[in-house]
Amino acid sequence: MTRRRQIYEGKAKILYEGPEPGTLIQYFKDDATAFNAQKKGTISGKGVLNNRISEHIFTMLGNIGVPTHFIRRLNMREQLIRQVEIIPIEVVVRNVAAGSIVKRLGIEEGLQLPRTIIEYYYKDDALGDPMIADEHIACFGWASQEEMHDIADMAIRVNDFLCGLFAGIGIRLVDFKLEFGRIWDNDFARVLLADEISPDGCRLWDIATGEKLDKDRFRQNLGGEVEAYQEIARRLGLLPEGADTTVLDMEQHRKKRDK
Ligand code: TMP
Repeated sequence: MTRRRQIYEGKAKILYEGPEPGTLIQYFKDDATAFNAQKKGTISGKGVLNNRISEHIFTMLGNIGVPTHFIRRLNMREQLIRQVEIIPIEVVVRNVAAGSIVKRLGIEEGLQLPRTIIEYYYKDDALGDPMIADEHIACFGWASQEEMHDIADMAIRVNDFLCGLFAGIGIRLVDFKLEFGRIWDNDFARVLLADEISPDGCRLWDIATGEKLDKDRFRQNLGGEVEAYQEIARRLGLLPEGADTTVLDMEQHRKKRDK
C-alpha cells in the first residue's frame, strides 16, 4: 500500500490526505469506545459495516438534497470525502427517551417524546463533550446564527427521512448524533453534513421485540455487537442473505489466510 499522510486519528476513524486537494480519505476502524473512551474494545468487522451503512445513508440523504461531505466509497473500509472544517458541535436528535436524557431528567427509558428534541454538545474530549445551549455557541463563535439555522433545519430533515427509512425495515430510530462541517467558497461558508451515520452514533431498536441493534450492546455489555450491526446492514439490503462481514472483509480474510 502506498504511504499516505495521516491528517487525524479519532476513536473510530482515521483521516488521510485525499488524492486531490480538498478531499480526504475516511478509514473506518473496528475500535469502539464508550463513556468518553473510559471503556475501550474492538468489534471485529464493525468498520466494514459502518463504511457501507454510512455510504448508503449519506447517498440517500444526498439524493433528497441534504448536502454532505460524502463523495464515494473506495473499498471495504475507506471512503472519499470532501475536506471540511469541522464545526465543534455534536448535534443529538431524540425521538424516544434513552441514554443520557433518561439519567439527566429521570424519565423512563422508551418514552415516546411528544416532540423531537435537538440538543447540542461541545465537541471536546478533555471536557467530556459538555451539553451546551445556543447561547454558548453564539457567545463563543463556534457557529454563526445562519449556520445554526441550517444545522437545525438539516437535523430535522435527516430525522424525518431516517425515521421513515428505519420504520420501513422494522426499526425504531430512538436517537442519533450528527456532525457538520463548513467549506469555504471565497468568503462564503457552506454547511455540509459530515462524519458518519451508523449504529455507532444511533440508537436503533427492533420495533417488534425492542431489541437494541446499536452501540448500546457494547456500552451495556450485552454482547452480539457485530451481529446487531450486520442485522441493520442486512435489513437495509446491504448484506447478501447468509453473508457475514468476515466474508465481505477481504482485508481480514487475507490477514487470516496469510497468518
Ligand atoms: P446520549 O444519550 O449518550 O447523549 O447519546 C445520544 C445519541 O448520540 C446516541 O445515539 C449515541 C450518540 N452519541 C455519539 O454518537 N457520540 C457520543 O459521544 C455520545 C455521547 C452520543
